[in-house]
Amino acid sequence: MGIDLGRGQEEDRSCKALRGPWAGTPQHLDAPYWQTSEPLVDRMLDLAEVGPGDHLIDLGCGDGRIVIAAARRGAKGLGVDIDPARIAEAEAAARAAGVEDLAHFRREDLFETRLEAASVVTLYLVPHVNRMLAPRLSTELAPGSRVLSHGFPLRQWAPRTREFIDGHELYLWVVD
Ligand SMILES: C[S@@+](CC[C@H](N)C(=O)[O-])C[C@H]1O[C@@H](n2cnc3c(N)ncnc32)[C@H](O)[C@@H]1O
Repeated sequence: MGIDLGRGQEEDRSCKALRGPWAGTPQHLDAPYWQTSEPLVDRMLDLAEVGPGDHLIDLGCGDGRIVIAAARRGAKGLGVDIDPARIAEAEAAARAAGVEDLAHFRREDLFETRLEAASVVTLYLVPHVNRMLAPRLSTELAPGSRVLSHGFPLRQWAPRTREFIDGHELYLWVVD
């Protein structure tokens, strides 16, 4: 008798196959380290109207600039990154900005991050990673939550807003 894999397990298996054997370790980046420029960070947060009462999660937070900018607007934030050097930089930057009570960081594989608490999720990843995340974004986020992506769309979703700024694309979706 064959093993009956549920749809979630099937997706999990194909996701692991796509990511390769080093997935989930600091030796494997699912997206390279590029930074969103400060003006683009501000524009993203304006688009999603981020403010007090929001809980923003940046999946692949780099030096923490998006979470720190959100904290300056009064929002709570969590940045996760697989690279411990990025987390050390982000924590130092949050302390320097005096927002360490609102801006938190964790070394973690973004595929393991629970999203239920977020009212805003930010992404600057690559197309196939966005595609793998899309089902989780639609099932784990509450209706009305906003998803922002710098660079790449979520193919399955029609954006609420799409902007092209200095050669960079920004997308905003609102979860139904
Ligand atoms: C393009 S950078 C974006 C940095 C930041 N969000 C920004 O917009 O400035 C992508 C980040 O994702 C991180 N990353 C790549 N794969 C990851 C994974 N599986 N889990 C967590 N972080 C990951 C990289 O270390 C890198 O810092």
